[in-house]
Amino acid sequence: KDTYQITLLPGDGIGPEIMSSCKDVLGALQKRCGFTLEMKEALIGGVAIDEAGDPFPDESLEQCLKSDSVLLSCIGGYKVNYNTLPYIAALLPLPIYSLINIHTLICYMIVQWDSNPRELRPETGLLKMRKSMGLFANLRPAKVLSQLIDASTLKREVVEGVDVMVVRELTGDVYFGTPKGIDVVDGKRVGYNNMIYDETEIERIARVAGDVASKRGGKLCSVDKANVLDVSQLWRDVVTDVITKDFPDVELSHMYVDNAAMQLIRWPKQFDTMVTGNIFGDILSDEASMLVGSLGMLPSASIGESGPGVFEPCHGSAPDIAGQDKANPLALILSAAMMLRYDLDRAEEADILEKAVEAVLDQGLRTADIKQEGDGCKLVGCIEMGKAVADIVATIDM
Ligand code: NAD
Ligand code: IPM
Ligand code: MN
Repeated sequence: KDTYQITLLPGDGIGPEIMSSCKDVLGALQKRCGFTLEMKEALIGGVAIDEAGDPFPDESLEQCLKSDSVLLSCIGGYKVNYNTLPYIAALLPLPIYSLINIHTLICYMIVQWDSNPRELRPETGLLKMRKSMGLFANLRPAKVLSQLIDASTLKREVVEGVDVMVVRELTGDVYFGTPKGIDVVDGKRVGYNNMIYDETEIERIARVAGDVASKRGGKLCSVDKANVLDVSQLWRDVVTDVITKDFPDVELSHMYVDNAAMQLIRWPKQFDTMVTGNIFGDILSDEASMLVGSLGMLPSASIGESGPGVFEPCHGSAPDIAGQDKANPLALILSAAMMLRYDLDRAEEADILEKAVEAVLDQGLRTADIKQEGDGCKLVGCIEMGKAVADIVATIDM
């Protein structure tokens, strides 16, 4: 096969910027390798709420399901509603400015998806996509590149050589449990969510983790809170059963999540593969990104039993730098490499992308998030970084 249907989900915030850089890179890769990615965009997140009234419209789901694979940037955050500018300008001559404070005005201009009801929030679209596509396993590799050792806030000897894979369960846990809500009980508001896993959900993620661990260093650390939570006790029991029965060569250990958060910073080289639930995995993988130097470097693969996977950076829409050509596109480019490897069975092309990312760092190019004071490297924007990777992809010796 040499033609693939790829759905691109640019999403919100820095999403469209990093997707544009990634498309440059994939363009160069196709030219070099003589295969075709038929890329078509679809809506998800805040932009889907604005344009289709749904954070993950049915048309987007259908398009994703009939693709060979899906590449997602990120969703969420806020955006400026420029439509309000004329009204504000019209009000300018009026003396009411002494009455309204500037903060109120800015809030009026910014569309806060965050104040929408839950079903109309960008994050709900992302969760709907993961659930409806059956993407129960999220692989988040935190591999320290030698070029970026000094970009980490941790000491060189702590991070050098770190290579951890966090296998995060993605369609269960407190994210999807019911009952949930905010009610009034005895005159007080009460908020609640339910942390819940059934044994089949734990079994299947344990299998993925066992498989991943057996192909890596052979060590698996399952992270839970079994000293307090019943759901974690079940997690521990089921993971132990699956690994001891079906993966006898994998060395299994268990760790409480609070200790794991500390050990990841204290001595991360003790870890090879980690497996954990949805919320603990969300938190620990962001933590692991600082071993690598930046959240802007961390890719991920969201996969299910069958059908297309979704390949997405671990980071969000970075509203603080959106629209300023400051975003690091490398997490998305590395996610595209994971897509080539896992979904398209194009390991050679994946290698080219990964090698090109290292080469661009060797050249000293750095976006702001991985730039260190006085390290003699060149600060570049998202566009320049994407172009540089594309140039290398076109020419690099393999
Ligand atoms: P974030 O990941 O967007 O940003 C955290 C920090 O990391 C910010 O300072 C940001 O500038 C920086 N950062 C992130 N990605 C970067 C990149 N590629 N290059 C350079 N710097 C980068 O997290 P947040 O600020 O907590 O959340 C912002 C929004 O993103 C929220 O709406 C949240 O729900 C959403 N979010 C979405 C996803 C996703 O789409 N998968 C993941 C996390 C958060
Ligand atoms: C991530 C994000 C999402 C999550 C949010 C935006 C729903 O933080 O992909 O890591 O919590 O899974
Ligand atoms: Mn997250």
